[in-house]
Amino acid sequence: MAEQTLSHLLHEDRRFPPSEQVRAHANGTAELYEQADADFEGFWAARAREYVAWDTDFTQVLDWSDAPFARWFADGRLNASYNCVDRHVEAGNGDRVAIHFVGEPGDTRDITYADLQTKVAQCANALADLGVGTGDVVMIYLPMIPEAAIAMLACARLGAPHSVVFGGFSADALRSRINDAHAKVVVTADAGYRRGKPSALKSAVDEAVSVEGSPISKVLVVNRCDTNVAWDDARDVWWHDAVDGAAGERAPEIVDAEHPLFILYTSGTTGKPKGILHTTGGYLTQAAYTNAVVHDLHPESDVYWCTADIGWVTGHSYVVYGPMANGATQVMYEGTPDSPHQGRWWEICQQYGVTILYTAPTAIRTFMKWGAQIPATYDLSAIRLLGSVGEPINPEAWMWYREHIGGGHAPVVDTWWQTETGGIMISPLPGITSLCPGSAQTAIPGIVADVVDDMAEPVDNGQSGYLVITKPWPAMLRGIWGDPQRYKDTYWARWEHLYFAGDGAKKDEDGNIWVLGRVDDVMNVSGHRLSTSEIESALVSHPAVAEAAVVGASDEMTGQAVAAFVILRAGAGDGRDEASLITELKAHVGKEIGAIAKPKSIMIVSELPKTRSGKIMRRLLRDVAENREVGDVTTLADSSVMDFIKNHIPAKA
Ligand code: WT7
Repeated sequence: MAEQTLSHLLHEDRRFPPSEQVRAHANGTAELYEQADADFEGFWAARAREYVAWDTDFTQVLDWSDAPFARWFADGRLNASYNCVDRHVEAGNGDRVAIHFVGEPGDTRDITYADLQTKVAQCANALADLGVGTGDVVMIYLPMIPEAAIAMLACARLGAPHSVVFGGFSADALRSRINDAHAKVVVTADAGYRRGKPSALKSAVDEAVSVEGSPISKVLVVNRCDTNVAWDDARDVWWHDAVDGAAGERAPEIVDAEHPLFILYTSGTTGKPKGILHTTGGYLTQAAYTNAVVHDLHPESDVYWCTADIGWVTGHSYVVYGPMANGATQVMYEGTPDSPHQGRWWEICQQYGVTILYTAPTAIRTFMKWGAQIPATYDLSAIRLLGSVGEPINPEAWMWYREHIGGGHAPVVDTWWQTETGGIMISPLPGITSLCPGSAQTAIPGIVADVVDDMAEPVDNGQSGYLVITKPWPAMLRGIWGDPQRYKDTYWARWEHLYFAGDGAKKDEDGNIWVLGRVDDVMNVSGHRLSTSEIESALVSHPAVAEAAVVGASDEMTGQAVAAFVILRAGAGDGRDEASLITELKAHVGKEIGAIAKPKSIMIVSELPKTRSGKIMRRLLRDVAENREVGDVTTLADSSVMDFIKNHIPAKA
């Protein structure tokens, strides 16, 4: 992050102490911090019994004897779908709406917890008929429709780990995840609505699984958009045939607390995405607890809306498992914020009386750009709490969010966490914390985080360093699917017994933590994680490209934007118009990974800046991409390279 942004961040002295009303209402209490400090394991055991229903209670809390492989509540037994569905019906809340679904074209469905119980059981029965048993991996590649949550919970009901792949990922990306996870079945839809048009999904699945040796034997297909799809009678099954016709009861499979609940792929510093493994008991405990104390969820009165897609961890923890374990009523919206008009979200908030909204800074910045007059035309008076996640929220965006969406009074909680952490780790608690715009502030009760220097020493207030977690936590990843060594190397190798998150952070004068962004080769574009090397590999797989370097350049709207520099193979550019080749390369990345990974800019260069040992100096490329004076070039093998690149800056695309 640019230095001037950094120093600006550090001079934030606005504070917003909780109002009396917020304080009186809040689930979070000061005692939680005290309890967690006094008795760490006792604290988490209490949360596990408060938020989760156990079929067999546990006697052990944390087993860290095989660190960094943790086991939490290991002799406890439970089922996650029972926790998210059945127990609410048993408690007499079957008539409570679980999901207010809004399709992009305007179709709506209200699904109660009793409905959900039937649908989850039907889907579980259908999956079992397709051969899914406990321990089999099911791939889910769906739009943001209720069937996505139903399929996830149906897998959980069977003890079959799911692996959700965001619908914006390409067939190639889907195939590599299917193969890595050895998935047996894919659940998909013909298409989902996106900006007024069906956006195809099934065709990508066809492409992903029609290869020699694909582990996929069945594809379960929701008919969402009534589009024409290719059909393989031996493999493809319609949801409306298999699920709607199945029996509406199925006993949940009771599993050990450490039974795998899901694998979620995320980008790392190397080209190959990592399958992050989460298990059942600890994950569910932290998802439900954080949703209660950070989002301050009161399930009997709140209408909660987390805008994340289930393809990301936020959708797992704060659309499905956290809120549903708590019996929340929530909104689920299929489409984009500007379809068919830029007030769509606020129209939905008004219609359902949304009280809690959880979204990403990139969305907030987009709304700022569209103008405050748009939300102002809707009644947002029910909103009482706002959350932010995915990337640093600039203080101006924080203030705008509070003012124009939160009526000038709703607390904004900036929540830091990761796919790997499973649940929120650093965040203010509404009702307790005096809020500081732009900072995630402090670790929540039960989590111990710090900012350390190269020697693993905690930095003083006012200093920056690396963000680490110093004690295991219930929702922590249990590993990388199929690659225990990579798990150790990635997170636990830098310093012994410290989890290194990959983020740089700073402590301000009050000790508040400001997360500054990744210090590794991971980019954050609109709150989505992308790896520089994964995009480089995609570029190099194009026949015209010899070499590629990718950097994340600061971007006002998306936080970072993908900027690529490529060297063409000899002769590849001959007789070709550069602009059309660049367009082709962008499309190629879209095909290899997905539209979210398409570079915003591609510059064709004849050399890349490298050190004498051959390492690409991304720092210098970032200077170019951010239109800055190029920094120190003395370590370059050939310092004239940068002169060429600087002088070759084409008109901005
Ligand atoms: C990375 C994790 C957490 C779910 C969505 C992203 C960045 C996340 C914040 C925040 C500053 C944040 C970090 C982190 N990040 N939340 N509140 N402030 N940065 O999950 O894809 O696993 O990405 O997102 O860089 O390491 P993810």
